[in-house]
Amino acid sequence: MDSLRQLIQQDSNHNLLDLLSSFCQCAIAIDEQSRVIWISEAYRELIEIPNDMEPIGKPIEELLPTTQMPIVVKSGKPLFIDLMLINNRWCVVTRLPVRNPEQKVIGAIGFVFYDDLDSLQPLFDKFARLKHKFEDEKIIRPSRYELDDMIGSSVATQQLRRQALRAAQLDTTLLLLGETGTGKELLAQGIHHASHRNSGPFVGINMGALPESLAEAELFGTAPGAFTGADRKGRTGKILLADGGTLFLDEIAEMPLPMQAKLLRVLQEREVEALGSNSLKKVDVRIITATSKDLMKQVEAGEFREDLYYRLNVLPIKLPPLRERIDDIHELATYLLAKIQKQSQLPELQLSKQALDWLCCYSWPGNIRELRNRLERGCVMAEGEMICPEDLGAFDDLPDKSHISTPSDLKSIKRDTSVRSIQQAIQQCNGNKTEAAKVLGISRASLYQHLKNT
Ligand SMILES: Nc1ncnc2c1ncn2[C@@H]1O[C@H](COP(=O)(O)OP(=O)(O)OP(=O)(O)O)[C@@H](O)[C@H]1O
Ligand SMILES: [Mg+2]
Repeated sequence: MDSLRQLIQQDSNHNLLDLLSSFCQCAIAIDEQSRVIWISEAYRELIEIPNDMEPIGKPIEELLPTTQMPIVVKSGKPLFIDLMLINNRWCVVTRLPVRNPEQKVIGAIGFVFYDDLDSLQPLFDKFARLKHKFEDEKIIRPSRYELDDMIGSSVATQQLRRQALRAAQLDTTLLLLGETGTGKELLAQGIHHASHRNSGPFVGINMGALPESLAEAELFGTAPGAFTGADRKGRTGKILLADGGTLFLDEIAEMPLPMQAKLLRVLQEREVEALGSNSLKKVDVRIITATSKDLMKQVEAGEFREDLYYRLNVLPIKLPPLRERIDDIHELATYLLAKIQKQSQLPELQLSKQALDWLCCYSWPGNIRELRNRLERGCVMAEGEMICPEDLGAFDDLPDKSHISTPSDLKSIKRDTSVRSIQQAIQQCNGNKTEAAKVLGISRASLYQHLKNT
């Protein structure tokens, strides 16, 4: 037997293929180059191969993008009982290498089972549980920030740090108040880190980012058997996941009213009731909430429960806006600039005296996050070794930066921006590149270099 293809072709009575088909609902065979040499009718239907398409001879990845069959051909090792999502349906698959008498791998055969899988239900359940656990693990990660990561030596920041340290030791409910970008999340993590709960989990949830329909299950969990689908086995809510640690509820003002009642109960009784369950579970968490809104105003408007407001407002901590801690700006800018340059591997740049002056008189509506964004922009736009006020967008509105996804993009944005200015200048000078270089204040050689690098 030289190849699996020959074997299948020589099998005029289709004994081998009949045998394969009888094993299971679907089967497929590939040669040593991982090209399809045979596929059962049922498999064609399962993956919905159009009638006018000939699968034979095609690389198997074209039919099944997530297939592991080529690995089996390469390694010569079988992959028994695996779960694979085929056409939105979980199937059990087994892949076996086929060898010639000289033990050389000449292809592989794959079997798929998708009906009558009751006997494999325990396997599916275990898989679903592990998947859930994995997703939860992603949320319960150690807090990234410590209080030492809070930069600034202004009187206001020193006071904030002292308050935070005291609050960390007290274990009471905290309400962090501050405009957007003032460092509420950083402070919440820092407090958790400095508290006796630091070996427990820090679980953060942004109430503003959670759709109302999912929020309750997410926070309180679901009871086994109460729902169908993914929640059939029940799900642990984030409150319980934070047991022994800190639960950080960001943008608390966005919490829907019915949920506010349930949260109040958690605060009063220290018990959680999962959706669809009638049993209560004890939970030991410190709750930190944060908002940039005026919660009292929301209470007056009937959008926030007054009783919950008082429960959450046990110890309010106000984060001053950046314009009220101007003494921090120099230190913050130096720190953030170094961080940006480290991440983006851009050459080292300094802030010009005028740029520093501008940073100190600007109003900073987006606070420290905006400072970081503007410095990032400065690194992109600066022409020499100095960042000037105009590089920071001092004289215009900050453009939409949503396209800057990673610091590694900075280089390419810088390149695109300079190429665009060069092209504009060339156009203005009617195609005269020497003239354009003069207008831009760069040498002709440098202009050509820029254009060549695109
Ligand atoms: N004192 C500080 N020192 C260094 N970095 C800071 C400081 N305060 C905030 N930052 C940084 O500024 C950014 C915004 O902070 P954070 O996300 O904590 O703000 P926030 O108040 O939660 O904002 P929002 O209300 O928009 O959610 C983060 O990148 C954070 O690391
Ligand atoms: Mg935040």
